[in-house]
Amino acid sequence: MSERISVIGTGYLGATHAAGMAELGHEVIGVDVDAEKIERLSRGEVPFYEPGLPELLRKHVESGRLRFTTDIREAAEFADVHFIGVGTPQLKSGYGADMVYVDAAIDALAPLLTRPSVILGKSTVPVGTAARLAARVRELAPVGDDAQLGWNPEFLREGFAVEDTLRPDRLVLGVDPVQPGRIEEVARRVYADALARETPIVVTDLATAELVKVSANAFLATKISFINAVAEVCDATGADVKDLADAIGYDDRIGRKFLGAGLGFGGGCLPKDIRAFMARAGELGVDQALTFLREVDAVNLRRRQHVVELAEREVGGSLVGARIAVLGAAFKPDSDDVRDSPALDVAGQLHLAGAHVRVHDPEGMVNAARVWPTLDFAESPQGAVQDADLVILATEWRQFRDLDPEEVGRLVAHRRIIDGRNCLPAERWIAAGWTYRGLGRHSG
Ligand code: UDX
Repeated sequence: MSERISVIGTGYLGATHAAGMAELGHEVIGVDVDAEKIERLSRGEVPFYEPGLPELLRKHVESGRLRFTTDIREAAEFADVHFIGVGTPQLKSGYGADMVYVDAAIDALAPLLTRPSVILGKSTVPVGTAARLAARVRELAPVGDDAQLGWNPEFLREGFAVEDTLRPDRLVLGVDPVQPGRIEEVARRVYADALARETPIVVTDLATAELVKVSANAFLATKISFINAVAEVCDATGADVKDLADAIGYDDRIGRKFLGAGLGFGGGCLPKDIRAFMARAGELGVDQALTFLREVDAVNLRRRQHVVELAEREVGGSLVGARIAVLGAAFKPDSDDVRDSPALDVAGQLHLAGAHVRVHDPEGMVNAARVWPTLDFAESPQGAVQDADLVILATEWRQFRDLDPEEVGRLVAHRRIIDGRNCLPAERWIAAGWTYRGLGRHSG
């Protein structure tokens, strides 16, 4: 059955969710305060890089099932279900998450709700936010208790956002057990397609639903920092972290995913979510419970420093004047997102230390140049490596993994490479005469 849906906030999460809901057969209106973004989306244009999303968006803008507006009144009049997908960035003043956009969305929408409505929050928020918002909605909405708020966290990964939206591996729904209202019934209609495929759904209270999201991200971050900490020990002993990860990963209880040692995690979610989680635990008086996340963050940031120091050693002890090619700027492949990107951070630190840094990234250079306008950017990997004293692979794009060491070798001044993502076939590079350095790996 087709539902009338609004998605408030059309950034990464909201735009993907809006297009995904249209693909599932619903009638969707996307709302944002940014007029330029709305204009582009209305033309079927996606303002960021995400494989498969432009096609989906265009398809449904053309079919008329998906439209965009800056007028929240239009959304309130049109839709019965409202998703909140605005950002919750890290506060400038500390580790906590900034709720200003979430609060503004609720304050704008709730007073316009003149008929029974369900609001489903998707943004990642500090635990306790949903209960506060549910009360605010009841207080502000002309329909009072007939405006009901639940929490429905989103787990999409950049680069796989369409797939994750259309075929989620689980659904989580938080509902106030004292006033459950119609939220579960409405959510089950919205997600009928996934539920028909027997996608597991966990229906729980609001606080648990909020915590599921941050706990999932904190766990993933911990897994990555765990293997990176072990990589430090491997470096000190000549052991190989990739073999080690394979070996422990065969244990089903551990699993091989997210045991990729390298430059560590970045992006708009993992780093900010672990910090916001710690900040919230502090407010709740249980900060000790999460002090280990401080270490997770520290191990992660140390990876970047380690690569800078390794680079310094590789070029003979001083970075000043060294020509270094950095392949990658996005925080991961198939994304143009450079938020908290390990790759860009390394490029920036090398640049500040006096190296001549040339960066190439298939999609992330426009965003990277906004953060580091003084870096040198090349239009191709070949352009970046030309005459380099050292090459650093910092984001594992397929284009980089497929590079031919012989061909690249003819362009550089010195055949030296740091594989910051442990993703290259080391033997091939070594056979082609390269000094190959992985992270926590046997070095050639
Ligand atoms: C993450 C979560 O996976 C997703 O469920 C949540 O909704 C949002 O945050 P995303 O930020 O898109 O998604 O990226 P993800 O694929 O999780 O990677 C995060 C970072 O970890 C990247 O910088 C990646 O390079 C790094 N990573 C990942 C590793 O360093 N090693 C690994 O083994 C896996």
